[in-house]
Amino acid sequence: MIELREITWENLWKIINLKPAESQKDHLPSNAVFMAMAYVNLKLQYPDACFAIYHGENAVGFTKILFIEKGEEQFNLSKDTYFIDAIMIDEKYQGRGYGTSALEQILSFIRKKPWGHSDSIRASCYDKNIVMGRLLEKAGFIRTDKLDRGKDGLRVYTIAL
Ligand SMILES: CC(C)(COP(=O)(O)OP(=O)(O)OC[C@H]1O[C@@H](n2cnc3c(N)ncnc32)[C@H](O)[C@@H]1OP(=O)(O)O)[C@@H](O)C(=O)NCCC(=O)NCCS
Repeated sequence: MIELREITWENLWKIINLKPAESQKDHLPSNAVFMAMAYVNLKLQYPDACFAIYHGENAVGFTKILFIEKGEEQFNLSKDTYFIDAIMIDEKYQGRGYGTSALEQILSFIRKKPWGHSDSIRASCYDKNIVMGRLLEKAGFIRTDKLDRGKDGLRVYTIAL
């Protein structure tokens, strides 16, 4: 069974050491970089949560979830939005359904609206990242014609909340 767990001093290095395949490394920053970004967001009091993805007692992946307020400069959104900033499963655990189950857990976390009201969830992934694009669409996300922060090929996906 897949579950999201807090990152603590007990598991921090395990999570930092989880890595995608070499060919996937340009799809997203490392887990350590995502945690550094979360540190900055939290200092600015932007809601941001990093979780370890566990299968039983085994750490298999990482995710980061944000709440972006309407008009926030970088994103310039017209409404408050939950954002799945990262989802990764370590190379050696991929292809076992863990990514699909982790996304279900992430959606159920967000559906509790922990940081306030919103009617949509956003995620983004590069057009060349076929596996992630399919994973999002299978969960009900719609592929839009928008690019995330104008980045080349970084496609925005949305789902109603
Ligand atoms: C995207 C990612 C999280 C998917 O995790 P996963 O645990 O392998 O996903 P699942 O096992 O649930 O598989 C999901 C689907 O992708 C398919 N799939 C998984 N790995 C695949 C591969 N290497 N090649 C082709 N298809 C693949 C599965 O067959 C499954 O398809 P199906 O639902 O039609 O049967 C994982 O590939 C990953 O961490 N990638 C690197 C990081 C990344 O790109 N993150 C997204 C950044 S936006």
